[in-house]
Amino acid sequence: MNHTTQVAIVGAGPSGLLLGQLLAKAGIDNIIVEQRDPDYILGRIRAGVLESVCVEALEQAGCAERLHAEGLIHHGIELAFGGASHRINFEELIGKHVVVYGQTEVTRDLMAARESIGATTVYEADQVSLHDIDSASPKVRFVKDGQTHEIAAAFVAGCDGFHGVSRKTVADRIQTFERVYPFGWLGILADVPPVTEELIYANSERGFALSSMRSKTRVRCYIQCSLDDKVEDWSDQRFWDEYRRRLPEAAAAATITGPSIEKSIAPLRSFVTEPMRFGNLFLAGDAAHIVPPTGAKGLNLAASDVLYLARGIAQFFVERSSEGIDGYSQRALSRIWKAERFSWWMTSLLHRFPEQTDFDRAIQRAELDYLVGSTAARTSLAENYVGLPMAS
Ligand code: APR
Ligand code: PHB
Repeated sequence: MNHTTQVAIVGAGPSGLLLGQLLAKAGIDNIIVEQRDPDYILGRIRAGVLESVCVEALEQAGCAERLHAEGLIHHGIELAFGGASHRINFEELIGKHVVVYGQTEVTRDLMAARESIGATTVYEADQVSLHDIDSASPKVRFVKDGQTHEIAAAFVAGCDGFHGVSRKTVADRIQTFERVYPFGWLGILADVPPVTEELIYANSERGFALSSMRSKTRVRCYIQCSLDDKVEDWSDQRFWDEYRRRLPEAAAAATITGPSIEKSIAPLRSFVTEPMRFGNLFLAGDAAHIVPPTGAKGLNLAASDVLYLARGIAQFFVERSSEGIDGYSQRALSRIWKAERFSWWMTSLLHRFPEQTDFDRAIQRAELDYLVGSTAARTSLAENYVGLPMAS
């Protein structure tokens, strides 16, 4: 069966759904093709710290109502090391904040909005493939319920994540930059109240720990673990014991524990693809780049890519200008590399590396001391954490 649309979007994660919504708002027809089903997508637990750029993108998409009602405004974070905790006060340093609201909820809101406007999303599409991307009529082909379909569009947006087909289609035309870290994060979700009002990022002798949350009644907590660790080896009790050992004493004592409702291990990686445009195929979000979660930048970068791309595509269709799509890759990459740098830096600052020498540890400690003692250094952390501005 043949279909036509203006933009064919591959992937219904936050990138694809947000792009679909922004395009629909601009009156641009689009179809999303996704290999999984909605429940699978909503079952993935990801980070949940939104920069104002991301919040504004969701407002523009008409999907920010619940986020404003339920999201928690955080004016800073705690940095813990050497047995003490130090607040980095974003509001005081730069007059800005972040909003804590889970990516799963963002995705749920985007899915509901898409359903309410009646836009087409094909879930459980098999054998998705991209064709003629350098032509004026690129195509996305897939099999659904045994039948082959082909969508012809003016543009294809590859929003299909790190393991998707879009980047693979242009594998011989890309340059990739990568760093794989020698540890993972073991995370658990539990229905207990958070120990503090804000997130605690802890550098301890036993490795990194993060106290995060989804709401006033649900926590998300992480500890740095070995890449050889298996989730099955970590009972809830073992997790909480280790987690507490890595937090400052007061926070450890006040931590309320409970049974996990999700527990998983994620590897840490920095990864960038250049460029992000190939003919009429555009990559966005995790399809083009990965950050280690330490700076909470994954979803936020996906949002800024999509804002640039939606703006460029709207300019093309509405104003007949290709300036936005021509500049997409460069504009997006400029913001991506800065967030890559920040995420790499936060990761380097806060983790225990297996090959770390005493000298390396002392330098790490000196950097942490410098950070909490210097307004300039804290301002730098704050402006990166809350999110750098978008290019005009
Ligand atoms: N065909 C169709 N869909 C595909 C294919 C394929 N061949 N391969 C993958 N997908 C789908 C996945 O099932 C997934 O739903 O593409 C979607 C990609 O979603 P994400 O991986 O969430 O990527 P993205 O939308 O860019 O979101 C970025 O997610 O991983 C986090 O930290 C990251 O928060 C950031 C955000
Ligand atoms: C999370 O809540 O899952 C989370 C928060 C901050 C991070 C990473 C993950 O830096």
